[in-house]
Parts: sequence; structure tokens; C-alpha cells
Amino acid sequence: MTVAERSADRFRASRFLHGYAKGKATWDPAYAAVATLLKASDRPLLDIGCGVGLLAAFLRESRCRQSILGIEPDAAKVRLARDQVAGFYPSLEFQVGDARELPGFSGDVVMLDVLHYLDAACQRVVLDEIAARICPGGRALIRTTFRDGTWRYYATLLEEVFVRVSGWIRGGRCHFPTQEEVLAAFRGPEWSFSVTPMWGRTPFNSHLVVVQRLSPETPQ
Ligand SMILES: C[S@@+](CC[C@H](N)C(=O)[O-])C[C@H]1O[C@@H](n2cnc3c(N)ncnc32)[C@H](O)[C@@H]1O
Repeated sequence: MTVAERSADRFRASRFLHGYAKGKATWDPAYAAVATLLKASDRPLLDIGCGVGLLAAFLRESRCRQSILGIEPDAAKVRLARDQVAGFYPSLEFQVGDARELPGFSGDVVMLDVLHYLDAACQRVVLDEIAARICPGGRALIRTTFRDGTWRYYATLLEEVFVRVSGWIRGGRCHFPTQEEVLAAFRGPEWSFSVTPMWGRTPFNSHLVVVQRLSPETPQ
């Protein structure tokens, strides 16, 4: 079985959930990219907006062994993450929580497809709070859509309408940041960054921003 199939196999609560997990783990390139970047890390990982815990399952199936704390405001998703994933692997914890009230933490941070649920002012505060939680040598991995006026940007806006109408995601309006707005929290000589298209086979404008807090031991 593939990593995606093994990760999806944790989700047995319903056929829909299993199908969602299998499709997402198979086709979303961000999961494999995050696993590759974090495979050698023994730093704790904070997964902001962890949903049902699929990324955590994928990381464990990819032999990532760091402790993982997932936070997610939707209590039903946290229950699923606890029931379907946490008991199956060591050192996983899922809590009801919000990006706007991050727990004390030091290590790596991942936040996939969450930033746009926050308004512009909140985004800046949350990005600053993420930066404060990255330890020397640690990374923040943030996937978001950039507000860049491309057709992919407008396709992503349309999809957001669909997921809200369908009830899969709760919430009101969404705000996509520019690339400059995301990187503003990580300016200065102690940071390096890369930005990679991460839309896979979708029409969406997803990019993975990887920032690293350099330390004397960080290979250049
Ligand atoms: C598109 S899903 C992505 C889930 C997960 N990160 C993944 O990639 O599989 C977005 C998630 O962000 C969560 N979310 C929305 N607003 C949030 C907030 N203020 N803080 C943390 N998570 C939030 C949603 O409940 C949802 O589970």
C-alpha cells in the first residue's frame, strides 16, 4: 500500500471520510512536500487548522517521528482526529484551538490552507505569532493562495464559495493575502525563505511558503 492509502486507512468513520482522506492524501502534493521537508526533523511540530488529522497520519506513515500537536476550531473534526488518528500513532495530540490564540510552543509550524479564513489584520498578527514559535533551525510551512489577480486566484475564490455552501468549512468571508504580506513577518537576516507552486492537478492558486529561522548550525 502507498503512504496515501495507509494514511487514509485510519479514517473508517464513514465511506465519505475514507474517500475524502484517500483522495486528498493521494492528490494533494503539499502532504508529500511537507513530509520531505520534515522527515529529518526531531523538533516538535504544531499543525494549525489540522482538520481531521490527515496530515499527521501522512507524516507518521512517511516515517516522520517528531511529536505533533494539531489545533483546530471545529470540535467535530478534533473528535475525528482523536478517534481515528491519535490512538494509532505515538506522540500525537489534537486540541480544539484557534490560530488567533496559539498555544505556547517552540519548534516547526505547519499551516495548510487556513490563513485566508482570517482577516488581513489577524493574518499579520498570526504570522508574527508563528514566527515567534519557530526555534533556531526550525521552519514554518504555510500553504496559501496569493491574491495576485490570476485566473487561478479567481478559481480558488469560487471553490471557497462551494466549501462554505456545502458546510464542510464553517465561516464567513475569506481574505487571500499577497506573497509580500505573508513574507512580511519573516524579514531579517535570521530568515531564509522559498515559495513554490503547490496546486498539483487543481486549478487553484496554492503556493507553499517555507521559511526557516537560521541558526549557526543551519547548512547554507
Ligand atoms: C481547508 S481545511 C485544511 C485542513 C488541513 N490543514 C489540511 O490541509 O488537511 C482548513 C481548516 O482550517 C480550519 N480553520 C478555519 N479557521 C481557523 C482558525 N481561525 N484557526 C485555525 N483553524 C481554522 C478549518 O476548520 C479547516 O479544518
